[in-house]
Amino acid sequence: MGLFSKKKRILPPPRHIAIIMDGNGRWAKKRGMPRTAGHAAGAEAFRRTANYCRTLGVRYLTVYAFSTENWKRSEEEIQGIMILLRQYLEEAMRDMEKNHVCFRFFGDLSRLSPDLKQLCRDAEARSSQYHDVQVNFCLNYGGRDEIVKAARQFAEEVAAGSRRPEELDENLFGQYLYSGGIPDPELVIRPSGEKRISNFLLWQSAYSEYVFMNVLWPDFGPKDLDDAIEEYHKRDRRFGGV
Ligand code: IPE
Ligand code: IPE
Ligand code: MG
Repeated sequence: MGLFSKKKRILPPPRHIAIIMDGNGRWAKKRGMPRTAGHAAGAEAFRRTANYCRTLGVRYLTVYAFSTENWKRSEEEIQGIMILLRQYLEEAMRDMEKNHVCFRFFGDLSRLSPDLKQLCRDAEARSSQYHDVQVNFCLNYGGRDEIVKAARQFAEEVAAGSRRPEELDENLFGQYLYSGGIPDPELVIRPSGEKRISNFLLWQSAYSEYVFMNVLWPDFGPKDLDDAIEEYHKRDRRFGGV
């Protein structure tokens, strides 16, 4: 039982937690293993964390799995990540009735292979009936790309006459993002020791509490999530007020 589990009765977990799953490469390097081995261990950490979030009653878990900038990596590493993703989704499709996880994908899936893209769409469609925890996979995701795509779509609707520019406010703009209809994350966690956003949820994390941790993602476990949630509860969230 982690620290947080003991306090569960008094401190509810955040409704929405987002995680930048970083540090797989360094984890592998430390062990003299190929980077793809780090990603495989990272996939295990994701399974653990998603299960624990479900146990805690976290409603939304958004994870950064592959950024619009990650295409700069070697073909071998990219393929390794895509294979792990496919394995995970095939497994999730098998276990769907048992786990009751709802899947959504944030990002431009058009650059994925057609079969992987189809698998994502199938997982989304088949899991939409479940509501225990919603996992949002950010895949070929970039915060700037998301905002540009939303702006373009709104502009197209104005050009087509179905929207007027004066209608646009923060609330409506949010509906054009991948996360439309989902509350903003209260807590964003970045393991691996890096202290930057790396183009993650730029719009949605405007008032999120960031917790940076030194643990590498493949080593991340329930105790780390407890610690991050405990840290979150210590923060004084003022939202610009006093
Ligand atoms: C995060 O781990 C996974 C992806 C970006 C796909 P990294 O692969 O970035 O690991 P480090 O930062 O090199 O250790
Ligand atoms: C952010 O990590 C992207 C994911 C975890 C998927 P990166 O490792 O790509 O980010 P930088 O390069 O450290 O900013
Ligand atoms: Mg990294």
